[in-house]
Amino acid sequence: MQSYTKGILLFLLCMTLLSCKKGDEEMATIADNNAIISYTVPKGLLYPEVPVDNLPTKNRIELGKMLFFDPILSRDSSVSCSSCHLPDKFFADNLIVSVGVDGRTGTRNAPSLINVAYQPNMFWDGGNPNLEQQVLGPIDNHDELDFDANLIVEKLKKHTKYPLLFLKAYNTEPSVFAFTRAIACYERSLIQANSRYDDYIQNGNKSALTDSELRGETLFFSEEGECFHCHQGALFTDFSFRNNGLYEQYADSGRARITQNLSDIGKFKVPTLRNVEMTAPYMHDGSLNTLEDVVNHYNSGGVAHPNKSPIILRLNLSSEQKTDLVNFLKSLTDK
Ligand code: HEC
Ligand code: HEC
Repeated sequence: MQSYTKGILLFLLCMTLLSCKKGDEEMATIADNNAIISYTVPKGLLYPEVPVDNLPTKNRIELGKMLFFDPILSRDSSVSCSSCHLPDKFFADNLIVSVGVDGRTGTRNAPSLINVAYQPNMFWDGGNPNLEQQVLGPIDNHDELDFDANLIVEKLKKHTKYPLLFLKAYNTEPSVFAFTRAIACYERSLIQANSRYDDYIQNGNKSALTDSELRGETLFFSEEGECFHCHQGALFTDFSFRNNGLYEQYADSGRARITQNLSDIGKFKVPTLRNVEMTAPYMHDGSLNTLEDVVNHYNSGGVAHPNKSPIILRLNLSSEQKTDLVNFLKSLTDK
């Protein structure tokens, strides 16, 4: 630890000792809350990559959580991150497109933030490199928080609680550097995998899935269904960008917005399918309402587009197979 960090910590500890009769206990708590901790990772998921300049501590996660839920981040203090990423909706919302400041709407469907720690890049088009930088995205966005990071810092500095919390978590006064890191630190803690499917796979609980779900699983992982080619691994995504044949003409150019390559038009990041039952509507623009609609889309093979993945083909599934596939997707919902 650098010496100025020690100095400030010592100062904090002394202040606490002077102001508190149970000094020893308080001192132990402060030290505990500043210790580097590990994120809790369930069986079946690897430990996520964490930037060395933003290792998690209890203080950092607590500060990030408070900021995530605080409308102080928006121009008129009406919208917070949690307005569109709702905890009881697996940190997504159930709107086609989310609503920001002044009731403005964007063009893309809000993704769940559960397991966002594993995303190699952010947004449907992958146009943002990491969680720390992503925080500035919705702040600058006219349709979301519509504010200015420097003005947020001014507000945080005048706040009754935040200055001390920043000092404890990052040993600094409120700054853009620290508040983006705190929020990222909190978001990384949203790691979860405890669905019935996990019980079946990780604990070998054979009765965790119904016969229909088991048939759906087989189909999902078969050449007949093709799903697993893109939705693979513990999070059911290979994080690649694909065109799955939704439109002949895309209003949103997707990955091409970032690369400027015509061959990337209509390609979007393959989304995780964990908790997909709870995060309707679907696709980058929220254009499909139900999982049945999604399965019907894949069954039809989608529409023609020069960039459509060659493995998006008419499937000719029976209605029982379609139900099985939907039931399997629903077994991926966390408890
Ligand atoms: C008005 C609604 C709204 C608000 C407010 C909002 N978001 Fe989002 N968020 C979205 C939408 C929509 C997307 C998808 C955008 C895209 O792909 O271009 C998104 C994407 C993300 C992603 C990328 C996830 C992924 O899988 O690629 C992260 C992380 C995220 N938001 C975190 C936050 C944080 C942190 C805040 C607060 C600082 C916030 N969001 C505020 C709607 C919102
Ligand atoms: C070629 C790769 C590919 C294949 C094969 C594929 N998907 Fe997808 N899937 C995607 C992409 C890319 C998206 C997002 C597309 C968009 O938003 O425009 C997506 C979106 C979804 C969604 C919506 C998730 C959400 O949060 O909006 C579901 C559900 C889904 N796929 C299920 C399946 C099933 C079931 C199969 C097999 C029948 C399948 N996928 C086959 C690439 C693929």
